[in-house]
Amino acid sequence: MSVDSFLRAIIRDAVAWDFFYGIINFDGVVGTVNHYGTVDMFAGRYNDAYRKAELDHVENFPTAQIKETFRAMGEDWTNEGFDPFASPAETGSAFGRRHGQNNDKVNQRRIAAKRMVSMPGDEALRSDASGFPINRAFLDVAQDEPTVKAEPGFEGEVQAFNLFAYLSRSQVTWNPSVVSVCKNSLYCPTTEEYILPVIHGNDRYEWFIQLSDEIHWSVEDRDSGAVRARVVMKPGDVAAMPADIRHQGYAPKRAMLLVWENASPDMPELVSSGKLPVVPVQF
Ligand code: PHB
Ligand code: FE
Repeated sequence: MSVDSFLRAIIRDAVAWDFFYGIINFDGVVGTVNHYGTVDMFAGRYNDAYRKAELDHVENFPTAQIKETFRAMGEDWTNEGFDPFASPAETGSAFGRRHGQNNDKVNQRRIAAKRMVSMPGDEALRSDASGFPINRAFLDVAQDEPTVKAEPGFEGEVQAFNLFAYLSRSQVTWNPSVVSVCKNSLYCPTTEEYILPVIHGNDRYEWFIQLSDEIHWSVEDRDSGAVRARVVMKPGDVAAMPADIRHQGYAPKRAMLLVWENASPDMPELVSSGKLPVVPVQF
């Protein structure tokens, strides 16, 4: 693998995402499966040719062990100036002999609201003053905030914020952050540019709502890698990614995407046992 892709993949997977939902393929061969407590690292397990040749290999590790190993590799192999979460146009180079480090960027905290961004005691709004300037691609995004007039007794419980303004100030790409939580329903918007550095294999379905610009998804069979679809999403488009696929996104210019996740711990078993269909809606 190209080292920039490798670092972007392992640092997202292990450090920022805690191994995410289901499978993270770093490329067509190598990756991880999250068993929520332990993690498989595999080579060729989800690649038809490796499987048929019986060359695939899997090893299981406690989550803390593989997380710390990947973190150490990420810190050690990241050169000074390379930010694994920034778009290629906004970072220094990953290449060249090892020099310096960028541990703050490798370990940067992923936003995860307890209830909703901007609620008292929860994740804060972004501003120039807090170090989040508007991204060059979103200079035209309105920055006004809604006025909230709560009934007496409900102050601090009724809240609203401008999600477009919030996303226009995102410094990271392909790194969904949790902005609102309703039981297991998580709104995880993100800003995208260039190529999602991993190929995500689902253990549940997930919804995509294209908030701005355009993203192209290449969709493959989760287990074999066989091509299933190419989905081009434009502003306002909504897609449900099935639970038996893997996908990788391409954003020709910086785009806003809302990923809507069902974080219920029962989902993988409900889907794999066939109690739930692999798609959340049928037309
Ligand atoms: C996904 O795999 O569904 C995914 C991952 C990262 C993103 C967007 C979507 O930024
Ligand atoms: Fe996904």
